[in-house]
Amino acid sequence: MRIAPSILSADFAALGEAIGRVEAGGADQLHVDVMDGHFVPNLTIGPPVIESIRKRTRLPLDVHLMIEEPERWTDTYVKAGADFVTVHAEACTHLQRALSQIREAGARAGVALNPSTPPEVLQYVLDDLDLVLVMSVNPGFGGQSFIPTAYEKIRRTRALLAGRDVLVSVDGGVKASNAPLLAQAGATVLVAGSSIFGAPDPGAAVATLRSASEVVNRA
Ligand code: DX5
Ligand code: ZN
Repeated sequence: MRIAPSILSADFAALGEAIGRVEAGGADQLHVDVMDGHFVPNLTIGPPVIESIRKRTRLPLDVHLMIEEPERWTDTYVKAGADFVTVHAEACTHLQRALSQIREAGARAGVALNPSTPPEVLQYVLDDLDLVLVMSVNPGFGGQSFIPTAYEKIRRTRALLAGRDVLVSVDGGVKASNAPLLAQAGATVLVAGSSIFGAPDPGAAVATLRSASEVVNRA
């Protein structure tokens, strides 16, 4: 299981320190939420902040674009330092083109699915994908409640991806109590904001989430 702390729940005025803590705690990648105030009703950060984060950590940067017309921006985010660029299926008129552009720019390509979007929208882009991000909340804010339909969607996504080397990530309301069922359903990346950065020791929270997700494998 890969653990991806979402910096949305960190103190942005002390971001470097927050990143240092989860890196020391064994995080596998850093999840960075980009919001434009249009695709989602919130605004966060853009390329200059990602450039600064890139200089601060060796962790792969998993950039989740919650923006309209993401095709216009993928090159910029790859240049800023993204290792994974994930676009929303709902925001792309030309999803296959967006994914190809990300790979051509030298990053790995992801597609995020809102809770109401079926995984079958991926059917004809399976060869263009490195990651599927199953949203278990409606995107826009940290700290929301997990929507349980995500379990079945993860299972269906895994079935669709059978035999392919594609990460299945889950984002929204992820914590130690649902990590075992998420692992069992087939998630390979757990994105977590408030359950990591809201904990007294974010580094220890990374380890707690990992061991919770491994309970199933040990059983
Ligand atoms: C929500 C973002 C998430 C968010 C998750 O739109 O995509 O990455 O940070 O936060 P938690 O883990 O608190 O639900
Ligand atoms: Zn996210």
